[in-house]
Amino acid sequence: MRPKVIAGNWKMHHGPAATRKFFSDFSPRLSGVEPLILIFPPAISLAAAAESRGGRPEISLGIQNLHWEPKGAFTGEHSAGMALAAGARYALVGHSERRHVFGETDAQVERKVAAAIHEGLSPVVCVGETLDERREGRVEEVIVRQLDAALLRVSEDANNAVLVAYEPVWAIGTGETATVHDVADAHGILRRRLREVWGDDFAGEVAILYGGSVKPDNAAELLAVTDVDGVLVGGASLDPESFARIAEAG
Ligand code: PGA
Repeated sequence: MRPKVIAGNWKMHHGPAATRKFFSDFSPRLSGVEPLILIFPPAISLAAAAESRGGRPEISLGIQNLHWEPKGAFTGEHSAGMALAAGARYALVGHSERRHVFGETDAQVERKVAAAIHEGLSPVVCVGETLDERREGRVEEVIVRQLDAALLRVSEDANNAVLVAYEPVWAIGTGETATVHDVADAHGILRRRLREVWGDDFAGEVAILYGGSVKPDNAAELLAVTDVDGVLVGGASLDPESFARIAEAG
């Protein structure tokens, strides 16, 4: 069985000094066999994270967003190759804040996924419906559309590289967690779609994470749901103690 994935998305929190402080407290709390831990610091803190994670191979790093071009006149952007050189091995792509605050489209998500895989970064493709879309009964339509678009150019042999995160927009940063039933439904839809389009081997290898108000006291319950291979944690990943408690649930 593949290890559970416990991922922390720091969003725009923790500059380099706060990142060093986080790891000096977090790394010693990990003991024994651990799940795979992924931390997505702000890009400007990646190098500090890489230096200060304390020789813990079970902690991998990722970038929260990237540009699909390798270099060029794109002020404020980072390429996949630059992220890799700064210590990242993963890339969040299509996070709901990128889609809904910064207007990122399915087509842009697709280019970013392709660029990440091309450079050797594993994309964590985020999908999820808004509250209105849920109320209109469109969960399946929305998450399948986002998944299909993101993986348009991904071939079956890239299965080790790709992760998917189901993050209902209404559950992010709101304290509202999807019910275990909602999560099982959405993850089942995604797994079926992966199987239909990319085949059983691919679908079996892709880890599907749940994200949206994951906390130390609900992590174990969510991780026990069928087809939930890990969690993507925002707010509760900022504090070393709370993130270590979530990691223990994995
Ligand atoms: P949250 O964020 O855990 O603070 O709800 C999750 C995310 O945006 O990845």
